[in-house]
Amino acid sequence: MKKKALITGVTGQDGSFLAELLLQKGYEVHGVIRRTSVDFRSRIAHLENNDSFHLHYGDLSDSMSIMQVIGKVRPNEIYNLAAQSHVQVSFDVPEYTADVVATGVLRILEAVRICGIADKCKIYQASTSELYGKVEAVPQDENTPFHPFSPYAVAKQYGYWIVKEYRDAYNMFCCSGILFNHESERRGETFVTRKISLAAARIAQGKQEKLILGNLSALRDWGYAKDYVECMWLMLQQQKPEDFVVATGEQHSVREFCLLAFKYVGIDLYFEGQGENEKGIDKDTGKIIVEVSPVFYRPTDVVNLLGNPTKAKEKLGWNPTKTSFKELVRIMVEHDMEQVARERLEENIDLYKIEALEKGTVE
Ligand code: NAP
Ligand code: GDD
Repeated sequence: MKKKALITGVTGQDGSFLAELLLQKGYEVHGVIRRTSVDFRSRIAHLENNDSFHLHYGDLSDSMSIMQVIGKVRPNEIYNLAAQSHVQVSFDVPEYTADVVATGVLRILEAVRICGIADKCKIYQASTSELYGKVEAVPQDENTPFHPFSPYAVAKQYGYWIVKEYRDAYNMFCCSGILFNHESERRGETFVTRKISLAAARIAQGKQEKLILGNLSALRDWGYAKDYVECMWLMLQQQKPEDFVVATGEQHSVREFCLLAFKYVGIDLYFEGQGENEKGIDKDTGKIIVEVSPVFYRPTDVVNLLGNPTKAKEKLGWNPTKTSFKELVRIMVEHDMEQVARERLEENIDLYKIEALEKGTVE
Protein backbone atom coordinates (compact mmCIF):
# COMPACT_ATOMS: atom_id res chain seq x y z
CA MET A 1 0.00 0.00 0.00
CA LYS A 2 1.31 3.44 -0.95
CA LYS A 3 1.59 5.96 1.87
CA LYS A 4 -0.83 8.86 1.44
CA ALA A 5 0.25 12.45 2.06
CA LEU A 6 -1.97 15.52 2.09
CA ILE A 7 -0.31 18.87 1.40
CA THR A 8 -2.07 22.16 2.06
CA GLY A 9 -0.38 25.00 0.17
CA VAL A 10 0.63 22.61 -2.60
CA THR A 11 0.66 25.41 -5.19
CA GLY A 12 3.24 27.39 -3.20
CA GLN A 13 7.02 27.31 -3.33
CA ASP A 14 7.48 24.63 -0.65
CA GLY A 15 4.34 22.67 -1.53
CA SER A 16 5.52 22.15 -5.08
CA PHE A 17 8.99 20.93 -4.04
CA LEU A 18 7.51 18.70 -1.33
CA ALA A 19 4.99 17.16 -3.76
CA GLU A 20 7.87 16.29 -6.11
CA LEU A 21 9.90 14.77 -3.27
CA LEU A 22 7.02 12.64 -1.96
CA LEU A 23 6.09 11.41 -5.44
CA GLN A 24 9.73 10.37 -5.94
CA LYS A 25 9.50 8.47 -2.65
CA GLY A 26 6.48 6.53 -3.92
CA TYR A 27 3.72 8.36 -2.01
CA GLU A 28 0.19 9.00 -3.25
CA VAL A 29 0.13 12.79 -2.97
CA HIS A 30 -3.04 14.83 -2.41
CA GLY A 31 -2.95 18.60 -2.56
CA VAL A 32 -5.45 21.22 -1.42
CA ILE A 33 -6.02 24.03 -3.90
CA ARG A 34 -8.14 27.17 -3.80
CA ARG A 35 -10.46 28.24 -6.54
CA THR A 36 -8.80 31.12 -8.37
CA SER A 37 -9.91 33.15 -11.37
CA VAL A 38 -6.81 32.05 -13.26
CA ASP A 39 -6.61 28.28 -13.38
CA PHE A 40 -3.00 27.74 -14.41
CA ARG A 41 -1.02 26.46 -11.41
CA SER A 42 2.47 27.15 -12.67
CA ARG A 43 4.50 25.50 -9.89
CA ILE A 44 2.68 22.16 -10.07
CA ALA A 45 1.51 22.11 -13.70
CA HIS A 46 4.19 19.50 -14.53
CA LEU A 47 2.75 17.12 -11.88
CA GLU A 48 -0.89 17.29 -12.84
CA ASN A 49 -0.75 14.29 -15.22
CA ASN A 50 0.87 12.04 -12.64
CA ASP A 51 -1.53 9.24 -11.60
CA SER A 52 -0.34 9.45 -7.98
CA PHE A 53 -1.05 13.18 -7.75
CA HIS A 54 -4.56 14.36 -6.83
CA LEU A 55 -5.98 17.82 -6.19
CA HIS A 56 -8.94 18.80 -4.02
CA TYR A 57 -10.60 22.16 -3.58
CA GLY A 58 -10.47 23.49 -0.04
CA ASP A 59 -9.59 26.53 1.99
CA LEU A 60 -8.01 26.77 5.42
CA SER A 61 -10.60 29.38 6.37
CA ASP A 62 -13.40 26.87 5.68
CA SER A 63 -13.53 24.03 8.22
CA MET A 64 -16.13 22.06 6.27
CA SER A 65 -13.88 21.84 3.22
CA ILE A 66 -10.91 20.81 5.36
CA MET A 67 -12.95 18.16 7.15
CA GLN A 68 -14.23 16.83 3.84
CA VAL A 69 -10.80 16.51 2.25
CA ILE A 70 -9.23 14.89 5.31
CA GLY A 71 -12.21 12.52 5.71
CA LYS A 72 -12.03 11.52 2.04
CA VAL A 73 -8.26 11.09 1.75
CA ARG A 74 -7.56 9.74 5.27
CA PRO A 75 -3.85 10.55 4.87
CA ASN A 76 -0.96 8.97 6.77
CA GLU A 77 0.83 12.33 6.77
CA ILE A 78 -0.41 15.92 6.55
CA TYR A 79 1.92 18.78 5.70
CA ASN A 80 0.19 22.03 6.59
CA LEU A 81 2.02 24.57 4.42
CA ALA A 82 -0.91 26.81 3.48
CA ALA A 83 -0.66 30.38 4.71
CA GLN A 84 -0.96 34.03 3.87
CA SER A 85 2.83 33.91 4.06
CA HIS A 86 3.85 37.51 3.30
CA VAL A 87 4.90 39.37 6.45
CA GLN A 88 4.35 42.87 5.05
CA VAL A 89 0.92 41.93 3.67
CA SER A 90 -0.07 40.68 7.14
CA PHE A 91 -0.06 44.32 8.31
CA ASP A 92 -2.65 45.10 5.60
CA VAL A 93 -4.84 42.00 6.11
CA PRO A 94 -4.28 41.06 9.77
CA GLU A 95 -7.66 39.46 10.40
CA TYR A 96 -7.54 37.23 7.35
CA THR A 97 -3.93 36.33 8.20
CA ALA A 98 -4.99 35.30 11.71
CA ASP A 99 -7.89 33.24 10.35
CA VAL A 100 -5.76 31.24 7.94
CA VAL A 101 -2.39 31.17 9.69
CA ALA A 102 -3.64 30.67 13.27
CA THR A 103 -7.16 29.21 13.25
CA GLY A 104 -6.39 27.28 10.05
CA VAL A 105 -3.98 25.08 12.03
CA LEU A 106 -6.67 24.35 14.61
CA ARG A 107 -9.09 23.39 11.82
CA ILE A 108 -6.62 20.78 10.53
CA LEU A 109 -5.99 19.33 13.99
CA GLU A 110 -9.69 19.12 14.85
CA ALA A 111 -10.56 17.63 11.45
CA VAL A 112 -8.01 14.86 12.05
CA ARG A 113 -9.59 14.14 15.45
CA ILE A 114 -13.17 14.29 14.21
CA CYS A 115 -12.37 12.00 11.27
CA GLY A 116 -11.04 9.45 13.77
CA ILE A 117 -7.49 9.27 12.41
CA ALA A 118 -5.67 11.04 15.24
CA ASP A 119 -3.70 7.90 16.12
CA LYS A 120 -2.74 7.12 12.51
CA CYS A 121 -2.00 10.47 10.92
CA LYS A 122 1.24 12.42 11.44
CA ILE A 123 1.05 16.20 11.04
CA TYR A 124 3.76 18.67 10.05
CA GLN A 125 3.12 22.35 10.80
CA ALA A 126 5.03 25.01 8.82
CA SER A 127 6.32 27.14 11.64
CA THR A 128 8.78 29.97 11.17
CA SER A 129 11.84 31.86 12.39
CA GLU A 130 9.56 34.93 12.46
CA LEU A 131 8.53 33.61 15.91
CA TYR A 132 11.89 34.92 17.21
CA GLY A 133 11.02 38.32 15.71
CA LYS A 134 12.55 41.04 17.82
CA VAL A 135 15.22 38.56 18.74
CA GLU A 136 16.12 37.84 22.34
CA ALA A 137 19.30 35.90 21.46
CA VAL A 138 21.53 35.26 18.44
CA PRO A 139 21.73 32.60 17.06
CA GLN A 140 18.27 31.16 17.65
CA ASP A 141 17.60 27.50 18.50
CA GLU A 142 14.68 25.40 19.81
CA ASN A 143 15.07 26.93 23.29
CA THR A 144 15.28 30.61 22.32
CA PRO A 145 12.27 32.59 23.62
CA PHE A 146 9.79 33.82 21.02
CA HIS A 147 9.08 37.50 20.43
CA PRO A 148 6.79 37.69 17.37
CA PHE A 149 6.95 41.08 15.65
CA SER A 150 4.18 41.14 13.00
CA PRO A 151 0.55 40.02 12.68
CA TYR A 152 1.85 37.07 10.63
CA ALA A 153 4.29 36.02 13.36
CA VAL A 154 1.69 36.36 16.12
CA ALA A 155 -0.64 34.11 14.12
CA LYS A 156 2.15 31.57 13.52
CA GLN A 157 2.81 31.57 17.26
CA TYR A 158 -0.75 30.38 17.85
CA GLY A 159 -0.14 27.62 15.28
CA TYR A 160 3.02 26.57 17.08
CA TRP A 161 1.36 26.37 20.52
CA ILE A 162 -1.84 24.68 19.38
CA VAL A 163 0.23 21.96 17.71
CA LYS A 164 2.13 21.46 20.97
CA GLU A 165 -1.14 21.43 22.89
CA TYR A 166 -2.67 18.70 20.70
CA ARG A 167 0.53 16.70 21.01
CA ASP A 168 0.39 16.88 24.82
CA ALA A 169 -3.38 16.70 25.31
CA TYR A 170 -4.29 14.00 22.76
CA ASN A 171 -0.95 12.28 22.24
CA MET A 172 -1.10 13.15 18.53
CA PHE A 173 1.96 12.93 16.30
CA CYS A 174 2.15 16.59 15.33
CA CYS A 175 5.24 18.78 15.18
CA SER A 176 6.49 22.14 13.99
CA GLY A 177 9.45 22.84 11.78
CA ILE A 178 10.80 26.26 12.75
CA LEU A 179 12.10 27.07 9.31
CA PHE A 180 14.32 30.04 8.61
CA ASN A 181 13.96 31.81 5.26
CA HIS A 182 14.32 29.48 2.33
CA GLU A 183 14.30 30.63 -1.24
CA SER A 184 14.45 29.23 -4.74
CA GLU A 185 13.74 29.89 -8.38
CA ARG A 186 10.07 29.26 -7.43
CA ARG A 187 9.97 31.91 -4.69
CA GLY A 188 7.08 34.39 -4.92
CA GLU A 189 8.15 37.53 -6.76
CA THR A 190 7.45 39.95 -3.90
CA PHE A 191 9.82 38.31 -1.39
CA VAL A 192 13.08 40.21 -1.28
CA THR A 193 15.41 37.57 -2.77
CA ARG A 194 13.28 36.89 -5.83
CA LYS A 195 12.54 40.58 -6.27
CA ILE A 196 16.31 41.10 -6.45
CA SER A 197 17.16 38.13 -8.70
CA LEU A 198 14.42 39.07 -11.17
CA ALA A 199 15.39 42.74 -11.15
CA ALA A 200 19.06 41.87 -11.72
CA ALA A 201 18.07 39.77 -14.73
CA ARG A 202 15.75 42.45 -16.10
CA ILE A 203 18.24 45.28 -15.59
CA ALA A 204 21.03 43.26 -17.22
CA GLN A 205 18.76 42.65 -20.25
CA GLY A 206 17.54 46.23 -20.52
CA LYS A 207 13.98 45.52 -19.32
CA GLN A 208 14.13 47.51 -16.06
CA GLU A 209 15.95 50.66 -14.99
CA LYS A 210 16.13 50.46 -11.21
CA LEU A 211 15.39 48.26 -8.23
CA ILE A 212 13.64 49.88 -5.28
CA LEU A 213 14.00 48.14 -1.92
CA GLY A 214 13.29 48.75 1.77
CA ASN A 215 15.61 47.86 4.65
CA LEU A 216 18.94 46.83 3.09
CA SER A 217 20.49 46.00 6.45
CA ALA A 218 18.02 43.27 7.47
CA LEU A 219 19.91 40.05 8.19
CA ARG A 220 18.60 36.63 7.24
CA ASP A 221 19.68 33.01 7.33
CA TRP A 222 18.78 32.03 3.77
CA GLY A 223 18.68 28.40 2.61
CA TYR A 224 17.46 26.54 -0.47
CA ALA A 225 13.79 25.46 -0.35
CA LYS A 226 14.46 22.13 -2.07
CA ASP A 227 16.77 21.12 0.81
CA TYR A 228 14.28 22.30 3.44
CA VAL A 229 11.32 20.19 2.27
CA GLU A 230 13.49 17.11 2.81
CA CYS A 231 13.77 18.09 6.46
CA MET A 232 9.96 18.38 6.74
CA TRP A 233 9.67 14.79 5.56
CA LEU A 234 12.43 13.60 7.92
CA MET A 235 10.56 15.09 10.91
CA LEU A 236 7.54 12.90 10.18
CA GLN A 237 9.67 9.75 9.83
CA GLN A 238 10.80 9.92 13.48
CA GLN A 239 9.45 7.68 16.26
CA LYS A 240 8.62 10.69 18.44
CA PRO A 241 7.10 14.04 17.37
CA GLU A 242 9.53 16.90 18.09
CA ASP A 243 10.02 20.47 16.91
CA PHE A 244 13.16 21.37 14.97
CA VAL A 245 14.94 24.54 13.87
CA VAL A 246 15.81 24.32 10.18
CA ALA A 247 18.46 26.80 9.07
CA THR A 248 21.91 27.01 7.51
CA GLY A 249 23.71 28.71 10.44
CA GLU A 250 24.96 31.47 8.12
CA GLN A 251 23.74 35.05 7.96
CA HIS A 252 23.72 37.66 5.17
CA SER A 253 22.16 41.09 4.66
CA VAL A 254 19.74 42.15 1.92
CA ARG A 255 22.59 44.38 0.67
CA GLU A 256 24.92 41.37 0.33
CA PHE A 257 22.25 39.44 -1.56
CA CYS A 258 22.02 42.37 -4.00
CA LEU A 259 25.78 42.63 -4.50
CA LEU A 260 26.06 38.95 -5.33
CA ALA A 261 22.97 38.75 -7.56
CA PHE A 262 24.12 41.72 -9.64
CA LYS A 263 27.64 40.31 -9.81
CA TYR A 264 26.22 37.14 -11.39
CA VAL A 265 24.64 39.20 -14.18
CA GLY A 266 27.90 41.09 -14.77
CA ILE A 267 27.09 44.29 -12.86
CA ASP A 268 29.58 45.26 -10.16
CA LEU A 269 27.77 47.37 -7.58
CA TYR A 270 28.91 49.42 -4.64
CA PHE A 271 26.68 51.03 -2.02
CA GLU A 272 26.99 54.54 -0.65
CA GLY A 273 24.85 56.75 1.59
CA GLN A 274 22.72 55.91 4.60
CA GLY A 275 19.10 54.89 5.26
CA GLU A 276 16.68 56.23 2.68
CA ASN A 277 19.58 57.92 0.86
CA GLU A 278 21.57 54.76 0.32
CA LYS A 279 22.16 53.86 -3.32
CA GLY A 280 23.60 50.90 -5.19
CA ILE A 281 25.78 52.21 -8.00
CA ASP A 282 27.20 50.44 -11.05
CA LYS A 283 31.01 50.70 -10.69
CA ASP A 284 31.54 50.76 -14.47
CA THR A 285 28.90 53.26 -15.56
CA GLY A 286 28.21 55.25 -12.35
CA LYS A 287 24.49 54.63 -12.90
CA ILE A 288 22.24 54.30 -9.86
CA ILE A 289 20.77 50.80 -9.95
CA VAL A 290 19.38 50.31 -6.43
CA GLU A 291 17.42 52.84 -4.38
CA VAL A 292 15.64 52.73 -1.04
CA SER A 293 12.02 53.68 -0.47
CA PRO A 294 10.23 53.76 2.88
CA VAL A 295 7.23 52.25 1.06
CA PHE A 296 8.94 48.90 1.68
CA TYR A 297 9.68 49.58 5.35
CA ARG A 298 7.53 47.59 7.79
CA PRO A 299 5.84 49.03 10.89
CA THR A 300 8.00 46.55 12.85
CA ASP A 301 10.80 44.71 11.07
CA VAL A 302 12.69 41.59 12.00
CA VAL A 303 16.35 42.32 11.40
CA ASN A 304 18.60 39.68 12.92
CA LEU A 305 17.70 36.08 12.12
CA LEU A 306 20.35 33.41 12.41
CA GLY A 307 19.44 29.80 13.12
CA ASN A 308 21.31 27.05 14.90
CA PRO A 309 20.46 23.79 13.07
CA THR A 310 22.45 21.46 15.37
CA LYS A 311 19.41 19.46 16.51
CA ALA A 312 18.19 18.79 12.95
CA LYS A 313 21.72 17.86 11.93
CA GLU A 314 22.26 15.45 14.80
CA LYS A 315 18.81 13.88 15.23
CA LEU A 316 17.58 13.87 11.63
CA GLY A 317 20.93 13.55 9.85
CA TRP A 318 19.95 16.58 7.76
CA ASN A 319 22.68 18.55 6.00
CA PRO A 320 22.18 22.32 6.53
CA THR A 321 24.93 23.33 4.11
CA LYS A 322 24.01 21.19 1.10
CA THR A 323 23.41 24.33 -0.98
CA SER A 324 25.62 27.31 -0.11
CA PHE A 325 24.45 30.91 -0.10
CA LYS A 326 26.48 31.61 -3.26
CA GLU A 327 24.98 28.59 -4.99
CA LEU A 328 21.45 29.62 -3.98
CA VAL A 329 21.89 33.11 -5.44
CA ARG A 330 23.44 31.63 -8.59
CA ILE A 331 20.51 29.18 -9.06
CA MET A 332 17.97 32.00 -8.72
CA VAL A 333 19.78 34.45 -10.98
CA GLU A 334 20.50 31.88 -13.70
CA HIS A 335 16.84 30.85 -13.70
CA ASP A 336 15.67 34.46 -13.93
CA MET A 337 18.15 35.34 -16.68
CA GLU A 338 16.61 32.52 -18.74
CA GLN A 339 13.05 33.51 -17.80
CA VAL A 340 13.59 37.13 -18.82
CA ALA A 341 15.33 36.10 -22.07
CA ARG A 342 12.32 33.86 -22.87
CA GLU A 343 9.89 36.71 -22.14
CA ARG A 344 11.87 39.03 -24.42
CA LEU A 345 11.85 36.46 -27.19
CA GLU A 346 8.08 36.03 -26.86
CA GLU A 347 7.65 39.83 -26.93
CA ASN A 348 9.76 40.06 -30.09
CA ILE A 349 7.76 37.31 -31.75
CA ASP A 350 4.53 39.16 -30.87
CA LEU A 351 5.93 42.44 -32.23
CA TYR A 352 7.03 40.67 -35.40
CA LYS A 353 3.56 39.15 -35.78
CA ILE A 354 1.84 42.53 -35.29
CA GLU A 355 4.17 44.12 -37.84
CA ALA A 356 3.52 41.32 -40.30
CA LEU A 357 -0.24 41.57 -39.74
CA GLU A 358 -0.11 45.32 -40.34
CA LYS A 359 1.94 44.87 -43.50
CA GLY A 360 -0.47 42.17 -44.64
CA THR A 361 2.27 39.55 -44.99
CA VAL A 362 0.48 37.09 -42.65
CA GLU A 363 -3.12 36.50 -41.66
P1 NAP B 1 3.86 30.47 -0.49
O1 NAP B 1 4.71 30.23 -1.69
O2 NAP B 1 3.33 31.81 -0.22
O3 NAP B 1 2.65 29.41 -0.58
C1 NAP B 1 1.55 29.51 0.28
C2 NAP B 1 0.54 28.45 -0.11
O4 NAP B 1 -0.59 28.56 0.76
C3 NAP B 1 0.00 28.59 -1.53
O5 NAP B 1 -0.20 27.31 -2.08
C4 NAP B 1 -1.35 29.26 -1.31
O6 NAP B 1 -2.30 29.02 -2.32
C5 NAP B 1 -1.77 28.58 -0.03
N1 NAP B 1 -2.83 29.29 0.68
C6 NAP B 1 -2.86 30.59 1.07
N2 NAP B 1 -4.00 30.87 1.72
C7 NAP B 1 -4.73 29.73 1.73
C8 NAP B 1 -6.00 29.37 2.24
N3 NAP B 1 -6.79 30.27 2.85
N4 NAP B 1 -6.44 28.10 2.09
C9 NAP B 1 -5.67 27.18 1.45
N5 NAP B 1 -4.47 27.46 0.92
C10 NAP B 1 -3.99 28.72 1.07
O7 NAP B 1 4.64 30.00 0.83
P2 NAP B 1 5.95 29.09 0.99
O8 NAP B 1 7.14 29.96 0.92
O9 NAP B 1 5.82 27.90 0.12
O10 NAP B 1 5.82 28.67 2.52
C11 NAP B 1 5.09 27.50 2.91
C12 NAP B 1 4.73 27.60 4.38
O11 NAP B 1 5.91 27.72 5.16
C13 NAP B 1 3.87 28.80 4.76
O12 NAP B 1 3.01 28.40 5.80
C14 NAP B 1 4.87 29.82 5.27
O13 NAP B 1 4.24 30.69 6.19
C15 NAP B 1 5.86 28.91 5.95
N6 NAP B 1 7.25 29.37 6.02
C16 NAP B 1 7.89 29.76 4.88
C17 NAP B 1 9.23 30.13 4.95
C18 NAP B 1 9.98 30.56 3.73
O14 NAP B 1 11.06 31.15 3.89
N7 NAP B 1 9.52 30.24 2.53
C19 NAP B 1 9.89 30.10 6.19
C20 NAP B 1 9.19 29.68 7.31
C21 NAP B 1 7.87 29.30 7.23
P3 NAP B 1 -2.44 29.97 -3.63
O15 NAP B 1 -1.41 29.49 -4.61
O16 NAP B 1 -3.83 29.72 -4.05
O17 NAP B 1 -2.19 31.38 -3.17
N1 GDD C 1 9.62 41.70 0.63
C1 GDD C 1 10.55 42.67 0.70
N2 GDD C 1 10.59 43.61 -0.30
N3 GDD C 1 11.41 42.70 1.75
C2 GDD C 1 12.36 43.66 1.77
C3 GDD C 1 12.46 44.63 0.77
C4 GDD C 1 11.54 44.60 -0.32
O1 GDD C 1 11.56 45.43 -1.22
N4 GDD C 1 13.51 45.43 1.05
C5 GDD C 1 14.04 44.99 2.19
N5 GDD C 1 13.34 43.93 2.65
C6 GDD C 1 13.59 43.21 3.90
C7 GDD C 1 12.36 43.05 4.78
O2 GDD C 1 12.13 44.23 5.54
C8 GDD C 1 12.78 41.86 5.64
O3 GDD C 1 13.51 42.31 6.76
C9 GDD C 1 13.69 41.05 4.74
O4 GDD C 1 14.00 41.89 3.62
C10 GDD C 1 13.09 39.75 4.21
O5 GDD C 1 11.80 40.00 3.70
P1 GDD C 1 10.98 38.90 2.85
O6 GDD C 1 11.79 38.37 1.75
O7 GDD C 1 9.66 39.50 2.53
O8 GDD C 1 10.83 37.69 3.89
P2 GDD C 1 10.44 37.66 5.44
O9 GDD C 1 11.69 37.29 6.17
O10 GDD C 1 9.71 38.85 5.88
O11 GDD C 1 9.42 36.45 5.49
C11 GDD C 1 9.70 35.21 4.84
O12 GDD C 1 10.45 34.38 5.69
C12 GDD C 1 9.79 33.99 6.90
C13 GDD C 1 10.78 33.12 7.70
O13 GDD C 1 11.60 33.93 8.47
C14 GDD C 1 8.36 34.58 4.47
O14 GDD C 1 8.61 33.46 3.65
C15 GDD C 1 7.60 34.13 5.71
O15 GDD C 1 6.45 33.36 5.31
C16 GDD C 1 8.53 33.23 6.55
O16 GDD C 1 7.87 32.81 7.73
